[in-house]
Amino acid sequence: MKRVLIVDDIDENRYLLNSLMKSHDWEVEEASNGSDALEKAKKSPPSLVISDLLMPVMDGYTLLREWKEDEKLQNIPFVVYTATYTEPKDRQLAMELGADDFLIKPMDPKEFMVRVDKIIGRALTKKTKRTKETIEEQKDHFKMYSEVLVQKLEKKINELQEANKNFEEEIEKRKNTEEALRKSMEKLSNMTESAVNALAYASELRDQYTAGHQKNVMKLATAIAKKMKLDEEHISALKLAAIVHDVGKIIVPAEILNKPGQLNTIEISFIRQHPVAGRDIFKQFDIDFPISEIIYQHHERLNGSGYPEGIKGDEIMLEAKILAVSDVVEAMSSHRPYRPAPGIKAALEEIEKNSGTLYDPEVVKICLQLFREEEFSFDE
Ligand SMILES: [Fe+2]
Repeated sequence: MKRVLIVDDIDENRYLLNSLMKSHDWEVEEASNGSDALEKAKKSPPSLVISDLLMPVMDGYTLLREWKEDEKLQNIPFVVYTATYTEPKDRQLAMELGADDFLIKPMDPKEFMVRVDKIIGRALTKKTKRTKETIEEQKDHFKMYSEVLVQKLEKKINELQEANKNFEEEIEKRKNTEEALRKSMEKLSNMTESAVNALAYASELRDQYTAGHQKNVMKLATAIAKKMKLDEEHISALKLAAIVHDVGKIIVPAEILNKPGQLNTIEISFIRQHPVAGRDIFKQFDIDFPISEIIYQHHERLNGSGYPEGIKGDEIMLEAKILAVSDVVEAMSSHRPYRPAPGIKAALEEIEKNSGTLYDPEVVKICLQLFREEEFSFDE
């Protein structure tokens, strides 16, 4: 049976040729480079070799040269089948080195088989023994081989440079897009912060006694959150919620807010609605941070005695627990219309006494550390 050796470094190419040759009753052996092909052919010479040119380890030209110098192999027809070396010079070198045909990929299968049959027919009638190349011939071939190779390398280098340039342009484009995106996110975040600050200012205008209160609460809450190692996103949400946590007081009549002395039941129920109003205002904000929930829960207490829901323990968000402690400490340390300021000492004693019942013990511990060991203080 006729046997063909297919030499190509690309699996798909070998597969295609393999299928074609088998369908024409050829037995097929495969090799992935020149050196592999030589070894296989010397062990068991085929009736025909079809070889690619550009391959690793040993290229097709070198294989062809060694093939035609080997006494056992030189009369076996050698067909070059290439997609890369398509210049007349490439063909000339292959033919001078003794190739029996020079075919360019891809080729119509029918035409390919016609060419193969012709080569086999010719080889049967004409068996010429090729003598070793003279030194001059070797020099010429080596020169041509170098030229052909350099040309191919230059082409490859140009292709690589072009690809590299496109790649760099693509990177630059992406960098610009990322920068624009970052700027617009920053702008959005600044706008959110400005809107929240405007709301905080509006609520403090109505309630002069708590002016500055929200800012101080934000300062303390942020310090506690940082010490508790909350991540950036949670700290940002807590900060925004703190600066505006009493915004819901805009629904409470000014005379109740600024009333000196004790409040009656109706007045107290008004005051207790402010976390609900605060949440409803912030529901309007289309932002990812859960600011409205933190505001809603800032008067809840650990044992369920707070308002508006009376939720307890883990049902309360950590940010709301931090806000609650900060709110109480700041409120007690400053003056109110209905009472003189108990002062910071009394404020700290209050949270210490109620740690674990009204206030989260971890938050209380950190808050006490800040004031007693790290000299934390409010601005005014
Ligand atoms: Fe409040």
